[in-house]
Order: sequence, then C-alpha cells, then structure tokens
Amino acid sequence: MQRDDLAIVILAAGMGTRMKSRLPKVLHPVAGRSMLGHVLALAAALDPARVVVVHGPGEEGAAVAREARRWLPEAALAEQAERKGTGHAVMQALPALDGFDGRVLVLYGDVPLLTRETLQALLEKAADAPLAVLGFEAADPTGYGRLILSEDGGVDAIIEEKDASEEQRRVTLCNSGVMVAGAGMLRRLLPMLRAENAQGELYLTDLVALTRKEGKTVALSTCREEETLGVNDRAQLATVERIVQRRLRMAAMREGVTFADPDSVFLSWDTRLGRDVTVGPFVVFGPGCTVADNVTIHSHCHLEGAVVEEGAQIGPFARLRPGARVMAGAKVGNFVEVKNATVEAGAKVNHLSYIGDATVGEKANIGAGTITCNYDGFLKHRTEIGAGAFIGSNSALVAPVKIGPGALVAAGSTITKDVPGDALAIERAEERIVEGWAARYRARKKHEKERRKAGK
Ligand code: UD1
Ligand code: CA
Repeated sequence: MQRDDLAIVILAAGMGTRMKSRLPKVLHPVAGRSMLGHVLALAAALDPARVVVVHGPGEEGAAVAREARRWLPEAALAEQAERKGTGHAVMQALPALDGFDGRVLVLYGDVPLLTRETLQALLEKAADAPLAVLGFEAADPTGYGRLILSEDGGVDAIIEEKDASEEQRRVTLCNSGVMVAGAGMLRRLLPMLRAENAQGELYLTDLVALTRKEGKTVALSTCREEETLGVNDRAQLATVERIVQRRLRMAAMREGVTFADPDSVFLSWDTRLGRDVTVGPFVVFGPGCTVADNVTIHSHCHLEGAVVEEGAQIGPFARLRPGARVMAGAKVGNFVEVKNATVEAGAKVNHLSYIGDATVGEKANIGAGTITCNYDGFLKHRTEIGAGAFIGSNSALVAPVKIGPGALVAAGSTITKDVPGDALAIERAEERIVEGWAARYRARKKHEKERRKAGK
C-alpha cells in the first residue's frame, strides 16, 4: 500500500574521488546491482508517494540519472550542479516535492546496507517529532558527525568532526546521515542554513540545531553500525560486498539451500535457488539466475542469466551464460559452456563442449568435445538437435543445421548439412591400415639420430 505521507530523497551527487574511477561511485555494483539500484529498491519497498534522486552535473550525473530511471522509472530527478553540501543537495530536491506535505526520508546513494526494518523503526520515531535522525555507536567514530544528546534523550545537535571540540570528538554515537523531516519544515529551514563551518558547506545536519532553536525535540533512532557503512573507496566497496554476500547466503540457507562452503559461493541480488539445491565450493551466480528444487551444482561453476530446472546437475567447472536453460534432470558436465541454448529434459552434455544458440532435444547425448559452430564471423546461427539424438565426440555442428530426432553423428564429423531423424551422418576420411609402418618409421628415425650424434 502506498504511503501518501512519505517521500524519499536519495543523495547521489557526490564525486567519489577516492574510488579513482571513471564510473560514478553509486554505479559501482554490489552483488550484481549498482549501489544506487540497491538503495532505490529499499526506497521502493517503503512504498513512498515520491522518490527524488539528486545527481551531479555532466556525463557522470546523466549516467546516475539513467541508472535511477532503470530501477525506478517513476523516480523524479534533480540535478545538483555544484556540490555545496548535503543541505544544499536536499534543497535541489524541493521543486520535485512541490505540493507534497508529508515527511521526507533522506538516504545516501552510497550507503546500501540499510534494512527496511531499521527505516521503519526510524519512521515510527519520526511520527511524533518534527525531525528524526538515525544514529549508531561507532567502533571508530573518525570522520562521522557526532550526535550530542539533549536532556530528554533526543538529539541536541550534530557536530561534524571537522567542527568538533576535543570533548565532542570523544562521543562515539554518530550520525548515519539518514534523517526524516517534514516537507514543510525543510522548505522553511533549509534556506536558513549557513556555510559557516570548517568545510564551507551547507550541512543538512544543522537542521537539528535549527529545530532545537524553535524549542522542538529531535528524535533519535539507532541501528547497528554495519547497516550505515558507506562506500568511499574500493576497500569499503569490498567490505560492503562481503556483507551483502553474507546476507544473501544466509537467506538462501534459510530457504533450504546447502552450501558446502558458503564463503566461497557468490550470489547476485536476484539469484533464486529452490529447496534442496546443493552448491559446491567456488560457484559464482551472476545476475538473472533461477535454479529449481533438487538441483546440484558442483564446484567451480559460473552461471549468469541461466535457468536450471528441477533435478538437473551442473558441473564441476561448467559455465552457463545468458539464455542457458537446462531442463529437468539434464546434465551439463565439466568444461561445458552453454549460451542462449536449451538443454531439454534428460539430455546430457557431459564433457568439454560448447553449446551456443542451440536446442538439445530431450534425452539427446552430446559427446565430449562437441562444438556448435554458431558464428560465421558476421552472424549467429542456430543448431537444432532432436530428441534422443547421439552426437559422437569431437563433432563440429556448423550452424544453421538440424540434427533430426534419434539421428547419430559419428565421432569427429563436421556436419554442415541437415541430418534426417534416425539417420547416420559420418564425415571423415576412410581409415587406412598400413601394417608394420610404425616399426619401420622408428627404426629409420633412430638410425638418423645416431648418425647425427656421430657428426656424420
Ligand atoms: C555526512 C554527515 C555526517 C555523517 C556522515 C555519515 C553532513 C554535513 N554530514 O558526512 O554527519 O556522519 O555523512 O556518512 O551531512 N552529497 C551530495 N551533494 C553534496 C554533498 C554530499 O549529493 O553536495 C551526498 C554524497 O554523495 C553522499 C552523501 O551526500 O552520498 C554524504 O556526503 P558526504 O560528503 O560523504 O558526507 P560526510 O562528510 O561523510
Ligand atoms: Ca561519506
């Protein structure tokens, strides 16, 4: 149900200098989706009436805006042409909040680990206060704004580290940056912000002191430090990735997945694994994978955009690329690559094969080293292998080509013409036997070698 009284502003205009990247910071992926994508999903889960993404100028800003539209087409966009602080950034969102009179939740595009439960608790606290902030106890408070508490247990002020006194710096209760304020209050107080501070910026955090000056209380809600982790550099990006992976693995195990070694399995935000799926060590799921019940994925497999149906067996060392569909009970074995292809129920592709732009019919058997030659240097073509067909080892199927149901392709054949059902296709030179040839050859070569050694 949509909450008409809630709007969400996501700040994503930061420059991300410390990432040392061409890619804007919030577009760096975590578990296969950009940080901004994660934050937008979290925002959408709260069912707000409006979402505004504040992005920076130029090509980078445009890329951020595109990503925002991709994940939440109805999001409004606001450009912050100059980076003048978090207060200034929220001001840029005000036009998009025109006519909205509920509460505004401010999130950061580079803080992707917050949970819905935490935000809901904060929103509850905000129900009876004009302003509410989300704080946390920091193991190391360096760099964070400190929360100075008032007598009533609310927040009296937020002091940025650069502006803090010795005593204030000893405070370990810190500002996550997330806050909830009434829209009307933002319109009234934001223009009152002054850049009279160490960084010469308009601090959103100064809203606390302004609210206190009006004699009102500022509510405090707290959460675990882990949730407020922000990404400023690649090391923090790796930390966030680790946490998200841990959460995804836990969620999968709760739903009935067995991981031989959870820490070595990498999931994507949208990976769907059924009941009694068993995953060996060192398996990577890129985005877009769905795995049905009772599937076994042996160690060292890489899957992306793949669908694996009930009871199928994958790997070890298999690669399923986008568009791969492995149907019920089928087997895709070691060193097999499948791309944009369906391996029908009960079919087997057990060793060293490339199956691309193809259909492998039910219960067909694909011998070791079979290649579907799908690319002619310009275009891709399809290979269709009928049900129950048998493809001998080391065959090249040059697409477009059809192998009829029940047909047999002899090992080592290069097939360029369609093969009718139940037929044999054999394409190799006839085998010749020359009696004694190998022995004669060895004798000749041995003699030659000895002559050379003697320098003759
Ligand atoms: C901010 C808070 C600090 C808090 C910390 C938590 C202020 C003044 N300080 O500090 O109290 O402990 O976050 O991580 O708010 N952004 C813009 N436009 C701007 C400036 C920032 O979009 O002009 C965005 C950034 O992209 C980022 C977020 O706002 O996502 C926070 O900005 P950042 O510069 O990292 O703030 P901090 O100094 O870390
Ligand atoms: Ca920061």
